[in-house]
Parts: sequence; C-alpha cells; structure tokens
Amino acid sequence: MKVNGWLVNVVLAFRGALAAPSFLTTEETAVALISRALPNAPDGYAPKNVSCPAVRPTVRTAETLSSNETSWLQTRRKKTLSAMKDFFGHVKVGDLDVVGYLDKHANNVSSLPNVGIAVSGGGYRALMNGAGAIKAFDSRTDNASTSGHLGGLLQSATYVAGLSGGSWLLGSIYINNFTTVSSLQTTEPGSVWQFGNSILKGPDTGGIQLLDSASYYKDLADAVQSKVDAQYNTSLTDVWGRALSYQMFNASNGGIDYTWSSIAHTKEFIDGDYPMPLVVADGRKPGQKVIGSNSTVFEFNPWEFGTWDPSIFGFAPLEYLGSSFEGGSLPSNVSCVRGFDNAGFIIGTSSSLFNQFILQLNTTSLPNVLKEVFAKILGHLEQADDDIAIYDPNPFYQYHKETSPYALEPVLDVVDGGEDGQNIPLHPLIQPNRHVDVIFAVDSSADTNNWPNGTSLVATYERSLNTTGIGNGTAFPAIPDQNTFVNLGLNTRPTFFGCNSSNTTGHTPLIVYIPNAPYSALSNVSTFDLSYNDTQRDEIILNGYEVATMANSTRDMNWTACVGCAILSRSFERTNTALPSICTQCFSNYCWNGTTNSTEPNSYYPDSFMNVKIADNAGATLLMPAVLPVVMAVSVIFFGLI
Ligand SMILES: *[C@@H]1O[C@H](CO)[C@@H](O)[C@H](O)[C@H]1NC(C)=O
Ligand SMILES: *[C@@H]1O[C@H](CO)[C@@H](O)[C@H](O)[C@H]1NC(C)=O
Ligand SMILES: *[C@@H]1O[C@H](CO)[C@@H](O)[C@H](O)[C@H]1NC(C)=O
Ligand SMILES: *[C@@H]1O[C@H](CO)[C@@H](O)[C@H](O)[C@H]1NC(C)=O
Ligand SMILES: *[C@@H]1O[C@H](CO)[C@@H](O)[C@H](O)[C@H]1NC(C)=O
Ligand SMILES: *[C@@H]1O[C@H](CO)[C@@H](O)[C@H](O)[C@H]1NC(C)=O
Ligand SMILES: *[C@@H]1O[C@H](CO)[C@@H](O)[C@H](O)[C@H]1NC(C)=O
Ligand SMILES: *[C@@H]1O[C@H](CO)[C@@H](O)[C@H](O)[C@H]1NC(C)=O
Ligand SMILES: *[C@@H]1O[C@H](CO)[C@@H](O)[C@H](O)[C@H]1NC(C)=O
Ligand SMILES: *[C@@H]1O[C@H](CO)[C@@H](O)[C@H](O)[C@H]1NC(C)=O
Ligand SMILES: *[C@@H]1O[C@H](CO)[C@@H](O)[C@H](O)[C@H]1NC(C)=O
Ligand SMILES: *[C@@H]1O[C@H](CO)[C@@H](O)[C@H](O)[C@H]1NC(C)=O
Repeated sequence: MKVNGWLVNVVLAFRGALAAPSFLTTEETAVALISRALPNAPDGYAPKNVSCPAVRPTVRTAETLSSNETSWLQTRRKKTLSAMKDFFGHVKVGDLDVVGYLDKHANNVSSLPNVGIAVSGGGYRALMNGAGAIKAFDSRTDNASTSGHLGGLLQSATYVAGLSGGSWLLGSIYINNFTTVSSLQTTEPGSVWQFGNSILKGPDTGGIQLLDSASYYKDLADAVQSKVDAQYNTSLTDVWGRALSYQMFNASNGGIDYTWSSIAHTKEFIDGDYPMPLVVADGRKPGQKVIGSNSTVFEFNPWEFGTWDPSIFGFAPLEYLGSSFEGGSLPSNVSCVRGFDNAGFIIGTSSSLFNQFILQLNTTSLPNVLKEVFAKILGHLEQADDDIAIYDPNPFYQYHKETSPYALEPVLDVVDGGEDGQNIPLHPLIQPNRHVDVIFAVDSSADTNNWPNGTSLVATYERSLNTTGIGNGTAFPAIPDQNTFVNLGLNTRPTFFGCNSSNTTGHTPLIVYIPNAPYSALSNVSTFDLSYNDTQRDEIILNGYEVATMANSTRDMNWTACVGCAILSRSFERTNTALPSICTQCFSNYCWNGTTNSTEPNSYYPDSFMNVKIADNAGATLLMPAVLPVVMAVSVIFFGLI
C-alpha cells in the first residue's frame, strides 16, 4: 500500500514555518464544552478492525430508500407537521387558514408539503451566506418568528443538503448537536467560528483547543500519521479535513473521535427532531482532471455513503466504510472496520478543491512568476493524486460490474462536490424516491465577480435531461441560460422555477432559487479568502439573512406569503385545493415564465438592494499571498522545485 510519509513531513514543515513567536499566546482559558454528536470512533483518527455485527454489513442497490431512512421519515414527518403549523402561525398566506388546511390533511402525511433546503459551495463565503439563510429559517433565532421573517422553515424541512463550504456549515451544526448559527457566531472566547484565525494558523489559544500553531500542526500530522500507521492510504484531504475540524467542531483536539455516522445514533436525530443532513461529493476516475457533468455524484447521509447514479447505483453502510467490501459483501475472512468516516474527513472530502486551484490559477491576478511556483507545487500534488480524497478500500469494488466504471478500481477517488458544475447540492433532493416538493436553493457560487448567475441550476437541469442515462429518473424544471439570468435579473432576487407542474414530467420539485446578492454587505468575497475577523463574519451572515428574507420583507411586503405559497403549491395540487389569489400574484412576481434573453450582458456589478452604504470587504487577505512564503519554503525543502 502506498504510504504518504512525505505528506506528514510537509505538514510538519508548515508547522515549523508558522511557529513564529507572534502566533503564540500564553492565555489558555478552558471553557465549558457544549454538547455535540458522539465521539464514537474506536481509535481516534485511525480506522480500526472491530468485530462485525451479527448481520455482516453489505452494500445495497439504490432502487429504494434505505430501511433506516424510510422508518426515520415516519417519525420526522410528524414533527415537520407541527413545525409547519408553527411556521404558518406567523407566515400568513392571504386569508387562507393554512393551519386548518394542514390539520385537515394531517392523517395523510404524504399529501402534506415535503421541504428540502440546499446550501451551495463556495468556501467561507458559502458557509457564511448559507449560515445567514439557515439562521433566518431557524425558529430558535431571536425575532425570526415575527412578521416579515421566515423562522421555522428549517424545522419544517425534511432534508438539508450541503456541499463544500455548505458542508462545513452542516458539519458545524450537526456535529455540535444541531446547534444554532447564533451560538456558533458568538464573540465569546472559545466560540466555534473564529475565522480570524486562518485555517493555516490554527485555533485561538483562548478557546477550548488549548493549542499554539506549532502544536496544531503537530496534531494534524500525528492524526494523519496514525492513519498511515494503520496501513491506510492518505492524501492532502486528510490534513485538510483535520484542519477544518478545528474550525468547525466545538470539541477538544479538533473533535478527532467524531464520526459522521454517529449523527444517526444521537437521540434527537432518532426522535426526528431535526432534518436529515446530506453531504455531496463527486467521483473522479483515475487520471481525470476536469470533472464533467456526467461524473458520479455521491451522497453521505447519516447511515450510508453511495450514489443513485446508474453507474454504481448502490450505497455502503457509512459506519463500516474502510471495510474491504467485494462485490457488495464482506468476504468471511475480512474484518469489519470502523472509524473511517471521521466527520472532518467527510466535510474535507466534499471540499477537496485543490485541483481547482490549478484550473483557476491563471484567472487570478497573481504575478506570473508566482503562478509558475504554484503550478509546480500543485502539479506535484496532482501527480501524486493528492488533490483528491482517497477512499481505500473502494467500498464499491467489484460491485455492479456491468455498469460501474469504478468496479475494477481497488481505490475510490472522491473530490469536491462542486467540481461537476452542480455547486448547489440538489442531486440528493431530486431523487424520485424522496418525493421532495420544494427546494430552497441557497446559491453562493462565484460565477461572475464572485456572485452567482445560475450556472449551477443550468448544470443540474442539463444533467436531468439525459433521462435514459445519467439523469436516471430525476426530474428538474426548465432553467434558462446564464445570460438570461443576468439580463432578467433572476440572480438579483429569489426566483421560482417549475411553478407549473403540468409543464414538467415526473415528480418535479418547485425550486426557490435564493442567490447571494448585496443588501447590507458586499458578500462576494473570494473562495480562496481564508480569514475573516468577527465583524466581517457577522456582516456577511447578516447579509445572508437579508438575502433569504428580502430584508425582512422590506423589499417586498408579500415575500413571506410567497414563500408560503411555494411550500404549499404541490400539496395543493395533490389535495385539489384551489390556489389562493395571493399565490397567483406571488407566482406572477416570482416564477420564471419561460422568457429568455440570451444576448451577452454587461459585467454584473449589482448595487445594494437596501438603502445603505455597504462596506468594502476587499481588504481581506487572500490565501495565496498569505501562504506563499510557506509553500515556497516547503517546496524548496521537499521537492527541490525552485
Ligand atoms: C442536544 O440538544 C438538545 C436540544 O437542545 C438537548 O435537549 C440535549 O440535551 C443535547 N444533547 C446532549 C448530548 O447534550
Ligand atoms: C439501519 O437499519 C438496519 C436494518 O434495519 C439496522 O440493522 C441498523 O441498526 C440501522 N442503523 C442505524 C444507525 O440505526
Ligand atoms: C461524459 O461526458 C464526456 C463528454 O461530455 C464524455 O467524453 C465521457 O465519455 C462521458 N462519460 C461517461 C461515463 O459517459
Ligand atoms: C498558467 O500560467 C503559467 C505562467 O504563465 C504557465 O506556466 C502555466 O502553464 C499556466 N497554467 C495553465 C493551467 O494554463
Ligand atoms: C456565468 O458564470 C460562468 C461561470 O460559472 C461564466 O463562465 C459565465 O461567463 C457567466 N455568465 C454571465 C452572463 O455572467
Ligand atoms: C448521457 O449519459 C450517458 C452516461 O450515463 C453518457 O454516456 C451520454 O454521453 C450522455 N448523453 C448526453 C447527451 O449527455
Ligand atoms: C436507474 O439506474 C438503474 C441502474 O442502472 C436502473 O436499474 C434503473 O431502472 C434506473 N431508473 C430509472 C428511472 O431510469
Ligand atoms: C432584519 O432582521 C435582522 C434580525 O432580526 C436584523 O438584524 C436586521 O437589522 C433586519 N434588517 C432590516 C433591513 O430590517
Ligand atoms: C401584495 O399582495 C397584495 C394582495 O394580493 C397585493 O394587493 C399587493 O399588490 C401585493 N404587493 C406587492 C408589492 O406585490
Ligand atoms: C414574462 O416575464 C417577463 C420579464 O421577466 C415580462 O417582460 C413578460 O411580460 C412576462 N410574460 C408574461 C406572459 O407574463
Ligand atoms: C415549459 O417546458 C418547456 C419544455 O421543457 C420549456 O422549454 C419551457 O421553458 C417551460 N416553461 C417554464 C415556464 O418553465
Ligand atoms: C475587520 O476587517 C476589516 C476589513 O479588513 C477592517 O476594516 C476592520 O477594521 C477589521 N475589524 C476589526 C475589529 O479588526
């Protein structure tokens, strides 16, 4: 087995380079830990052989939902009913008695709305803008359940999906016991989201991590070394995931013992108290550089890792990832393995965008000489296939050999979920088995001047058109080209797609597209910007709140009613209920009506949609210049490149 000892050396070199006295402080205040998911890994970061359960774990085909999800849904859907009644307690839809409507159909849960939320990728920008939306949707946020706000939408949702930066948000919330965005962003010492300490520097010594940068890098290296020692292949994603954990999880030692599958064992999740989290990543075939739109899309749900795509079309039990499945079962002579699904490794996998650095390098304003340096270093990583997450052993080895391009690969390579262009994690939510009615799609993509322009929706739409191939039964509403998005302003305000379900085939969800846009802050900061002080962090989160609520409905007094209409629309169809007139008005305002204007637009520089002067966040430091000296030092030491 390939053992990446050099990688550990690189990490230690980073540590050496950064262990300057200015990074060290002596203040080490222990603060109380808040509760969180379960630290149930058998041996810290290293996967470990354990005895198998009575029924040996197997890979299952993707024809249906898992039995775990099916039974969990029965519990959850009852809870979403009461949450929706709370939500429609303050969100009025004209004079319709929505609570009465919900009560009337309560006996048949499948006639009631089934809500999904999707939070796109885009690094810290996506984490913060997405956090603003989730904060707005959360009934636990102060004032969120008052008129003009949208608190309770999160509690009404069945599913929440995250990808890349959006998966960091999900990880922060779920691994910390479904905590609130408000508590993650406190300014108390020891608060979780300390983005002023870049991930390259490590956590604040005033917090619970009790680390200086030197010990931080040693901890990262030790953890990855322990996986190497246990004879597992590692890649840069292991280091990245460990580092992210220190920023996202409120647990000592970067939450090293927390597994993603432990979410399924927490009491509140089992009781259906909150939505099911879904994290998305893409498959990469050996040697493949550009991840095309027909790449395999994987999901991590609390029980499983796998894909609905016709290629692999199977799911492996997440808790036993790392076990040597062959043709879908565990040979009798091999042991069960647990602890592979480290929570940081999962969110690191979804955000392993190192090869994107190469692809985007020449679009940055870096001087050419620096571009060359980076290209060499990143090229080296790429040659060593270290720009990906290595899932070794491949759980789908010898599985579905007729269709799977991965069946003969002993190692499965997985990359950032946004690399196929589908930067909003819609894929798990448009699976026909899940019957989702409406998806709130929060888009923080960096399409044009770091604002979104619909590219991600276009990618998902085009993929769904391949009905006999990769689309495999998914249905998605018609989406216009990006020029139309910009020309008609569909990316400057929420837009609904697929309002008229008779213009679609199959069970097509209504998409409520919520693009990042400037209200109280210029939230179009760079994906590669890795450091934000608390003021900038809170400004972007607040802007995300304004985006989702249309400035607490000051931009449109009917906005919350229109959200209500979007939620109820498919349910109304199932119960043959006439659309209230306010909804007709809403749909004429917010639904894309099929008009296109594909002429090339001017550059997109939107003005604030609130009458405020917005601060320029451009002062933030970029990753590349920030790490440059370190990367150069490392490259000299290890590769003799420059
Ligand atoms: C998780 O949060 C819930 C709801 O706030 C709380 O009741 C529960 O005690 C917490 N779980 C743990 C393990 O502390
Ligand atoms: C998932 O379902 C299987 C089969 O019913 C069961 O054995 C397993 O314990 C469930 N997993 C969890 C985490 O509940
Ligand atoms: C994916 O699409 C590209 C072109 O768009 C094609 O070259 C490639 O063969 C396709 N892969 C599969 C598995 O269909
Ligand atoms: C980017 O530009 C550098 C310097 O001009 C060049 O060496 C490199 O090949 C380019 N890389 C790509 C991916 O185009
Ligand atoms: C939209 O974004 C894509 C990148 O995602 C870019 O290539 C394209 O030029 C943009 N188009 C417009 C009209 O902004
Ligand atoms: C449809 O998907 C299949 C793979 O599932 C691929 O081979 C084919 O090229 C795709 N067709 C189009 C038009 O994208
Ligand atoms: C999805 O793909 C699987 C595996 O190839 C196939 O059995 C199934 O019929 C497909 N479903 C649809 C709706 O096309
Ligand atoms: C919207 O509500 C949030 C949270 O209550 C508040 O901080 C913000 O100032 C409000 N914005 C406007 C435009 O009213
Ligand atoms: C809000 O809805 C009411 C009732 O349908 C309508 O009269 C009014 O014009 C709407 N306001 C806006 C700004 O659309
Ligand atoms: C469709 O929307 C466009 C603006 O997006 C508007 O100009 C046009 O009048 C609308 N058409 C209909 C039939 O409502
Ligand atoms: C209706 O469906 C057709 C065919 O898919 C599509 O071209 C058109 O844009 C759709 N109209 C709307 C409003 O979605
Ligand atoms: C936060 O960063 C911004 C932009 O770099 C800067 O203007 C501001 O002074 C900083 N605030 C604090 C409290 O450091």
